[in-house]
Amino acid sequence: MAVDDQGMRRIMSPAYSHLGCTIEPATAAQINAAKDKSTYFHCPCHGAQFDRVGNATYVVTRGLDLYEPIVSGGNVYMDIMKPIVRQEGQRT
Ligand code: FES
Repeated sequence: MAVDDQGMRRIMSPAYSHLGCTIEPATAAQINAAKDKSTYFHCPCHGAQFDRVGNATYVVTRGLDLYEPIVSGGNVYMDIMKPIVRQEGQRT
């Protein structure tokens, strides 16, 4: 989950749009080596890095796509056909 700049909760895509790789939490070594210490997630294929809310912090300029959470019957869903696509350089 992430909170956008309007204070709305969003679900972050676990896959990066470049090649669709699944991002992973950054290791302590990756965070220590990162230029941007807000780095929290790491993409294993090309080393892209993202902060806690999916903003790009290294290599790429586009953050992780977001989805609006849909709460129903005590469950949280997301419509994978309607991502909130971030533009290049857009931060949440
Ligand atoms: S998909 Fe290219 S940075 Fe991971």
